[in-house]
Amino acid sequence: MARKLYIKTYGCQMNVYDSARMADVLAPLGYAKTDSPDDADMVILNTCHIREKAAEKVFSELGHWRKRKEAGADLTIAVAGCVAQAEGEEILNRAPFVDMVVGPQAYHRLPELLARAQRKRDAGREGNPQKNTTQKGPMQKGPMQKGPMQKGLGVLDTAFPPESKFDHLPEALANPPGPVGFLAIQEGCDKFCTFCVVPYTRGAEYSRPAAAIIAEAERLLESGASEIALLGQNVNAYHGEGPDGQTWSLARLLRALSDRFDGKYPGLRWRYTTSHPREMDADLIAVHGDLPSLMPFLHLPVQAGSDAVLKAMNRGHDADLFHRIVADLRAKRPDIALSSDFIVGFPGESDKDFEATMALVRAVGFAQAYSFKYSARPGTPAALLPNQVSEAVKDARLQALLALLREQQLAFNAGMQGRVLDVLIDRVGHKQNRPGQMLGRSPYMQSVVLEHPGLEIGMRVAVQITAGYLTSLAGNVVGTPILPLNREAA
Ligand code: 5AD
Ligand code: SF4
Repeated sequence: MARKLYIKTYGCQMNVYDSARMADVLAPLGYAKTDSPDDADMVILNTCHIREKAAEKVFSELGHWRKRKEAGADLTIAVAGCVAQAEGEEILNRAPFVDMVVGPQAYHRLPELLARAQRKRDAGREGNPQKNTTQKGPMQKGPMQKGPMQKGLGVLDTAFPPESKFDHLPEALANPPGPVGFLAIQEGCDKFCTFCVVPYTRGAEYSRPAAAIIAEAERLLESGASEIALLGQNVNAYHGEGPDGQTWSLARLLRALSDRFDGKYPGLRWRYTTSHPREMDADLIAVHGDLPSLMPFLHLPVQAGSDAVLKAMNRGHDADLFHRIVADLRAKRPDIALSSDFIVGFPGESDKDFEATMALVRAVGFAQAYSFKYSARPGTPAALLPNQVSEAVKDARLQALLALLREQQLAFNAGMQGRVLDVLIDRVGHKQNRPGQMLGRSPYMQSVVLEHPGLEIGMRVAVQITAGYLTSLAGNVVGTPILPLNREAA
């Protein structure tokens, strides 16, 4: 009988991609994905370590699963992702009921790990029958805290193997991708921003060969995707081997993908995330003008507007470079919607520095953005800086920045009124009293709320926008909704 796999994904889209690949790796072992935690025979927490209390959140979530096990459930618990990478052994020490801890570079070895965990558990039970999870034992008593306690029976794999995990992931998509296909083309980061854990949890920059990416794009499209998001922690640093033996840039890859697939899949659209300003070269900017299938949207984190703060962050760019990139992008693609990430309260950030961030935001105008209070991450250089900013100041700056960004987001969305946008239906609406409600995304990544008979996930519709709100657009379907050809065949 099929065993049920429940995956809870935190953090970035790379984790969303990894979760899908883990499900693919486990499918041949008879694991079918479930959306209902109560049915699960195996749970994977795919964790994120980027900001504060990440590990604490994981331990508290684990408490829930521990109760299920204590109640006698035959449940396999795995912790994956960046907390697994960063905390490693500590997870098995603090939560001995966890069966597997698996880092982001080891997902292709999940079947082997599963077998090892099973063997260890069986051996543990034979040798120590009192440790059976259904009986009273140390697990029931042991709170998840540091200090000496019963060693668990879990297994750990947080190695950075010399071979690429991508070469070992299965080609078949056991789980259809849905209308948006996520495709990891690059992983890791060599930039070492002083606040960030990514270079430590995801490792050095690695770019997949273009041929493997093209093949995976084809599989996603054949399985019904009609938008493809190319993913990487530093996606525009992509420098993979091309089929011609040359090193391809992201610009070159995008042109090749568009050349190959746009004609065959009408309406197909592309995007890529997350980018670094340092890698926004002229060719990549030109692609935004040259390829109509590249969505007019770019998430380009700037983090701060003060050159002194940017320097202390080791960003390798100043505010001026960001402004030049924006101007060049808008020259090529005037309607491009810009999104960004901001950190307020980086150590040493003065009122004047923060004002420079506000000035940058005012000058650029963002369609959306994410803002965070700086949080000291253990092991990163900025955590050791002496002049940490107080929580109260961080709060006040965050509120001021959020207010400005909200104003810009609302203005951007309200400006869509009257326009006809190409919307890809990708979710069912959540208003319980409106059963027919569907949600989609515009080319600018706005959520569009639709109430129209016969809409299905995966459909493309032309929508006349009637109103723009802070986080969504409303509109009327004009013309006939289209189910893309690849979906009909799927
Ligand atoms: N504190 C606050 N925000 C952070 N980010 C990364 N590390 C930290 C940190 N230590 C934010 C950055 C990054 C986004 C993914 O998370 O803005 O772009
Ligand atoms: Fe982290 Fe900086 Fe690398 Fe982005 S570029 S992943 S913020 S170190």
